[in-house]
Amino acid sequence: MFPGSEIYGGLANSFDYGPLGVKLKNNVKKLWWREMTRIQDNIVGLDAAILMNPKVWEASGHLTAGFADRLIECKVCHRRFRTDHLIEDWTEESYEKILESYKNDKKYSSYSEDELGKIIDNLIIKDYRIECPDCGNQLTDSGSESKKFNLMMKTFVGPVEDEAAVTYLRAETCQGIYMNFQNVLDSMRIKVPFGIAQIGKAFRNEVTPKDFIYRMREFEQMEMQWFCEPKTADKFFDYWLEQRLNWYYALGIKKENLKTYQVSKNELAHYARKAVDILYKFPFGWKEIEGVHNRGDWDLSNHSKHSGKDLSYADDPSTGSGQAKKYFPYVIETSIGVDRSLFAFLCDAYQEVKGGRTETTESTKEVEVVLKLHKSLAPIKVAVLPLVKNKPDLVKTAEKIYKMLKTKFSCQYDESGSIGRRYRRQDEIGTPFCVTVDFDTLKDGTVTVRDRDTMEQERVRAKDIISHLGILMSKI
Ligand code: GAP
Repeated sequence: MFPGSEIYGGLANSFDYGPLGVKLKNNVKKLWWREMTRIQDNIVGLDAAILMNPKVWEASGHLTAGFADRLIECKVCHRRFRTDHLIEDWTEESYEKILESYKNDKKYSSYSEDELGKIIDNLIIKDYRIECPDCGNQLTDSGSESKKFNLMMKTFVGPVEDEAAVTYLRAETCQGIYMNFQNVLDSMRIKVPFGIAQIGKAFRNEVTPKDFIYRMREFEQMEMQWFCEPKTADKFFDYWLEQRLNWYYALGIKKENLKTYQVSKNELAHYARKAVDILYKFPFGWKEIEGVHNRGDWDLSNHSKHSGKDLSYADDPSTGSGQAKKYFPYVIETSIGVDRSLFAFLCDAYQEVKGGRTETTESTKEVEVVLKLHKSLAPIKVAVLPLVKNKPDLVKTAEKIYKMLKTKFSCQYDESGSIGRRYRRQDEIGTPFCVTVDFDTLKDGTVTVRDRDTMEQERVRAKDIISHLGILMSKI
């Protein structure tokens, strides 16, 4: 992964995926897509446009107070900070807990939730005498105040930059799914309950992008919206939460590094009736990588109201037991960040072995890095390594095997450096298998297959190598 536009000094928290990063990212997306649109039943895919009519964002609630963070700008250095993060960093206590203790005071009972948040934030900052983390200025004394800041990224469609041309880069991919709810119903033989899945970029003008690819302004989401009868929403919520957790476990995430967090009423997004976050234990703390949300009929009913198009639904009474009366289906949403989940997979797989795993002089001096990625996530599945590069017969055979293997697996050919060093290089990028072509290959037609995790080596007939690796790859 490289910092975005680095030669110009970069751009805050923008990152580019390099040759191996993009392979890993594509694998994460491929596995999610496979899970949703092939393994699970009744889910269809979609690829909606990033730019939509701005009315979408009015109806969804994203342009109003609903989709905003409170932030405070230091009056001295003009750096901005998310108020909840600032309070937590300063007090080393949970923001929610502090907020609750202030809210219990009767004198605040007449305020709306929104007004209250702002008033209390400023009070906490004053009471705790919180300073600007950058310049040390005492925030309240200098008149700095916490304010709401909308996260939507504005842009202009067409050559004239007037208000009529304003639209927004989508802040969540699921709005494109609601825009196509009726199209999917009309064009596919599908009925409630069913899901629509989509992968795509989303943009948020985050106040404090941080922690590498954890919080960015441009990121990718994989979202599935499950449309169901309201009375079945709780059942499906539990089902999808369990399915999502199992997906991570099946891809090798350690159970002890994953937990769920029931989002409290105060913290719920404007559209949510209920939300459970899936948290991963990053080196910088437990953080959300995915949310499962019950969005009720918030989206379909609001889009119906604002567009004048009826998005309510009724089962065809001739086809079964569903409701014949029109209603707005509830939505159970599973929303996962590609970048955040990839980051979690990387952290989980990363291992440093002091002194190395082998006893050669070269490796005992070093820390050895092994990336124990699940085979299906690994960017390179097989490396083909001729033992030496100055024996034309050996190199020719290795090249032939590489040509054959690359039609089936993502492969790398590497002939430079000692064989031990080349194994280390492949271990570092998470390649599960190395195929080594040596002098015995020329005599008996066998090659060595080395396993990344056990470092065990077995000899396999070169002509059986595709099927042999296929079997190894399919094992967990
Ligand atoms: N449609 C619902 C929705 O967008 P969210 O909790 O705001 O819900 C869902 O976002 C997921 O998107 C998060 O769990 C996270 O993985 C990812 N995500 C959100 N903001 C992000 C950011 N600034 N950078 C990277 N990923 C982000």
